[in-house]
Amino acid sequence: MSTRETHTYDVVGVGFGPSNLSLAISLEEHHANVLTDPVTSAFFERQPKFGWHRNMLLPSATMQISFLKDLVTFRNPASRFSFVSFLHAQGRLAQFVNRKNFFPTRQEFHQYLEWAESHLTNQVTYNSAVLGIRRPPGTEPGAVDHLQLEIGDVVRGTTRTVNARNIVVSTGLRPRMPDGVERDERVWHSSEFLTKYGLANPAQLKSVAVVGAGQSAVEITKFFHSRLPHAQVHAIFPAYGYSVADDTPFANQIFDAEAVDDYYFGEDATREAFWRYHRNTNYGVVDDSDIGELYQIAYDEEVSGARRMHFHNLTKVSSVTRDGQSARVRLRRLDGAERELGVDVVVFATGYDPMDPTELLGDLDRHCLRDESGRHRVTRDYRLVTTPELSCGIYLQGATEHTHGLTSSLLSNIAVRSGEIVDAIIKERAERGMVNATAAA
Ligand code: FDA
Ligand code: NAP
Repeated sequence: MSTRETHTYDVVGVGFGPSNLSLAISLEEHHANVLTDPVTSAFFERQPKFGWHRNMLLPSATMQISFLKDLVTFRNPASRFSFVSFLHAQGRLAQFVNRKNFFPTRQEFHQYLEWAESHLTNQVTYNSAVLGIRRPPGTEPGAVDHLQLEIGDVVRGTTRTVNARNIVVSTGLRPRMPDGVERDERVWHSSEFLTKYGLANPAQLKSVAVVGAGQSAVEITKFFHSRLPHAQVHAIFPAYGYSVADDTPFANQIFDAEAVDDYYFGEDATREAFWRYHRNTNYGVVDDSDIGELYQIAYDEEVSGARRMHFHNLTKVSSVTRDGQSARVRLRRLDGAERELGVDVVVFATGYDPMDPTELLGDLDRHCLRDESGRHRVTRDYRLVTTPELSCGIYLQGATEHTHGLTSSLLSNIAVRSGEIVDAIIKERAERGMVNATAAA
């Protein structure tokens, strides 16, 4: 069954993770200042309720950024949606400060996000996957000022359409597996870790492997080692050792809002320097203290002689085959040597691909301009550059590393970025209103 809404929203958000939650707050705070003619908005999220990388909410895993880089503070330090307001509402502001530590656990930050979301539930519809975006039927070939989203009800299997003058796509990272490796009940990606671990019988996991040398890999390796005291734990990674995430003050400036301008308006050589010198702030790197803890585990085993933590460095996984209840993992050392490892479970903590709006855009994508490398062109305020036929706005939160730099998929700049998008939408709406008023006169 399919239903169609006739109302046209000013803004429809695709996905309701931290990025669009921050945008919803920015709109809400705009309304508080402007009492007439509010911007109408709605958000659609495919999950049954709010959740931020739930499958990696491992006990005591900490945030990779300061609590001050929350949904709002860098845009509006006086916002009632800040992490500090959350702590105050929970009655533990003093206790948090007594920790003398900028980094909450991921579980506490998740509570904060849920708390913020609980003030905006009227804005979002869950169990609702946006299946595609298209021109409203019958509008070809002239200009259109609004688009239609097809939304699938994940529970009922029905669809409906919703109209929007502006769409903010914020669908998040996509899990990456090595070519040819398929996931199943023994072969997991880190993004599904806790769900699949919850379905397994820990007593039967006698030998497990974790692939990768990033933050996810080390957190899962530590988790396995502590939760499965009877198991052999194999860590497989291409580097010689784990590399530390550079979060020192000068390097950290690449996550400042100003760095977005330096990147966006910089020359190719400038942009290239961001990646060459600062990729190690985020990709394939691990928090200093987690590396120390893992090394201590290995050293303690060395001392006791009871070794069950095994490191396969300079090694990549080339394929996996299933053999009854076990997985046979093909290891290829960088010197070319190959061997096979049989394990009960192998977890690929092999990272993520960035968001890509192409599939959602479908046929509309031909109206979205691309650069000489085939990547979407995006304005400074995160709007896809389109042919004149599309006068409506399609904004991206994510998928802009090539134009806006390293903060694209991170939390660091979401408060400022969502404010910039809201400002752009409001400015454009005011200009269109003036055009309409002039035309009417
Ligand atoms: P996010 O992925 O959170 O949300 C996208 C939402 O869109 C999801 O809820 C998804 O269900 C929904 N969706 C997707 N397709 C849809 C569709 N077609 N229709 C409807 N809904 C759809 N960064 C950082 O700065 N500091 C940190 O500490 C961390 N920690 C961290 C931990 C882990 C385990 C990972 C994997 C990543 C991080 N990150 C991070 C980076 C991470 O990208 C960031 O924290 C946010 O998740 C970005 O928020 P978004 O809302 O953009 O994406
Ligand atoms: P990642 O940093 O991209 O790391 C992926 C790792 O997998 C790299 O070491 C990569 O090695 C390796 N790899 C890829 N293919 C391989 C193969 N075939 N065989 C062996 N190794 C292979 O991914 P991530 O650790 O999931 O981190 C992604 C993002 O999530 C980061 O922003 C991170 O900060 C964030 N995160 C945060 C937390 C937290 O807040 N506590 C927890 C987890 C993740 P190469 O680099 O050599 O390809």
